[in-house]
Amino acid sequence: GPDSGSTDTRLTDRHVVVTGGAQGIGRGIAVRCARAGADVTVFDTNTEDADVTADQVRETGSGATVVEVDVADAASVDSGVEAAVEALGPIHGVVNNAGIQQSIPLLETTEAEWDRHFAVNTKGTFLVAKRIAAQMIADDVAGSIVNISSVGAERPFTGQGAYGASKAAVLALTTVLAKELAEHDITANAIKPGTVETPMVDQWLTEKAAQSDQSPEEVLSESLDTHILDRPAQPAEIGHVAVLLLSAEGEWITGESIAVDGGYLK
Ligand code: NAI
Repeated sequence: GPDSGSTDTRLTDRHVVVTGGAQGIGRGIAVRCARAGADVTVFDTNTEDADVTADQVRETGSGATVVEVDVADAASVDSGVEAAVEALGPIHGVVNNAGIQQSIPLLETTEAEWDRHFAVNTKGTFLVAKRIAAQMIADDVAGSIVNISSVGAERPFTGQGAYGASKAAVLALTTVLAKELAEHDITANAIKPGTVETPMVDQWLTEKAAQSDQSPEEVLSESLDTHILDRPAQPAEIGHVAVLLLSAEGEWITGESIAVDGGYLK
């Protein structure tokens, strides 16, 4: 409850769904939630690597299940949530982490590329949040929604037109989720990560390097020059903040977007 914070933030007896949990930040969040005691369902299109995440979750002693879900497809999200509840019971938290990013100058961005960023990053977050909030209400559980936006929502690099716009939309969506779901004891917050070492960032560095006369290493070092802390984050560092937002200690935080960015936005 509000006046009984423990000194060790825990997610004991909670079931958390992590989308895009097959690798990168999603895997870091899934394993960090499990270390805090949560059972974890991983939604991903890549079930092979999601199974590796599930094994890492089980190594902590927590329950894990993997469901093949395309977050951009409402029918897939519906059956995924049913499978998650069937496997591990009522859902207390969801981390909308599945996302895509391509570095493309706006003048070269096709309609299909624009639409795909919004289908996965924005519509996917909406569909999963909507379906899981309805499930929380039906199961009468207090819950937390955590949406992974990006510093690119506020300060995008060149090449991040579609990506940055799709992530800015996630911030507006988060505000309305917080306002409309408060009466059901559901909070909604966003995290804006800076540069985190993941396969997505490796790909981004390669694309940016190809668009300039720099090497991927030079692009990384230039990107880190804009962070106060001169290193990329590890996925677990996003996980620590997700755990707080999913926990009882975080239940008076709602409608917020938290930069976990080594000072990039300052
Ligand atoms: P990643 O590309 O390494 O992993 C993304 C995961 O999402 C993959 O497992 C992929 O299979 C899954 N996924 C993609 N489309 C999907 C779909 N339609 N349905 C279900 N799963 C799908 O990405 P990373 O770096 O781990 O990023 C995770 C999130 O964090 C993304 O939303 C990204 O935009 C955001 N982010 C990442 C930053 C970074 O520096 N790595 C910085 C700021 C935000």
